[in-house]
Amino acid sequence: MIRGPGLEYERYDPVFFTGDAADSLRSPERPGLMLGGEIAVPKQRVLIAGATGYLGKFIVKELKSRGYWVRALARDARKIEPLKQSVDDLFVGQATQPVTLSGICKGIDIVISCLGITRQKDGLTYMDVDYQGNKNLLDEALGENVPRFMYISVFNADRLRHLEIVRAKEKFADELKAAGLDHIIVRPNGFFSDMQEFFNMARSNFL
Ligand SMILES: NC(=O)c1ccc[n+]([C@@H]2O[C@H](COP(=O)([O-])OP(=O)(O)OC[C@H]3O[C@@H](n4cnc5c(N)ncnc54)[C@H](OP(=O)(O)O)[C@@H]3O)[C@@H](O)[C@H]2O)c1
Repeated sequence: MIRGPGLEYERYDPVFFTGDAADSLRSPERPGLMLGGEIAVPKQRVLIAGATGYLGKFIVKELKSRGYWVRALARDARKIEPLKQSVDDLFVGQATQPVTLSGICKGIDIVISCLGITRQKDGLTYMDVDYQGNKNLLDEALGENVPRFMYISVFNADRLRHLEIVRAKEKFADELKAAGLDHIIVRPNGFFSDMQEFFNMARSNFL
């Protein structure tokens, strides 16, 4: 890896130099470098929202292991502590309060959002978080011309819009589709993230 002013570069053998890496070489903002027979390309910078959640933690670690530069949004810095080896930049903010997100997308190539209410009980609604929180992030991304945004919705969402949570998620998905940047909407089924708790309860003879 090579470090430049404010950027980290990844070396590529020109034989394997395709896709995102090739695009990056042409980027006027963060151009790649030719170094002898090799090409060095700035690392892709990813912002992940919902980084402190069940899915988010896996994504953060996976991104880091694949060589991405990772910025994580958290509303409580202490919750990022277990992930600090995998996070290059911690941004403390509250997705539902746009003023706290100012500048969050500066220098970012990809936003990934797994932000949403699952079990949190903090008085906010799905519309506040799953819709408006994500919309506030999207507005920041558009303001900084971030080229890509990935959003985690939920399985079978098209058929479940009568549910408040799905309505909020898909309202955001509709706005993302209309926003004009490259986007991916993932609609996963259950993660069974509560299974460990059930296991612990069973082990302690609670069940
Ligand atoms: N779990 C599933 O089985 C499942 C299945 C399909 C789709 N999904 C969707 O996938 C996404 C990730 O799911 P998950 O299970 O990883 O959820 P999770 O563990 O509850 O994580 C949710 C994330 O959103 C953040 N968040 C929640 N409310 C917030 C608020 N008011 N302000 C700021 N941040 C807030 C949480 O931050 P804090 O840590 O600070 O609370 C956390 O980082 C969600 O959108 C969920 O609806 C989940």
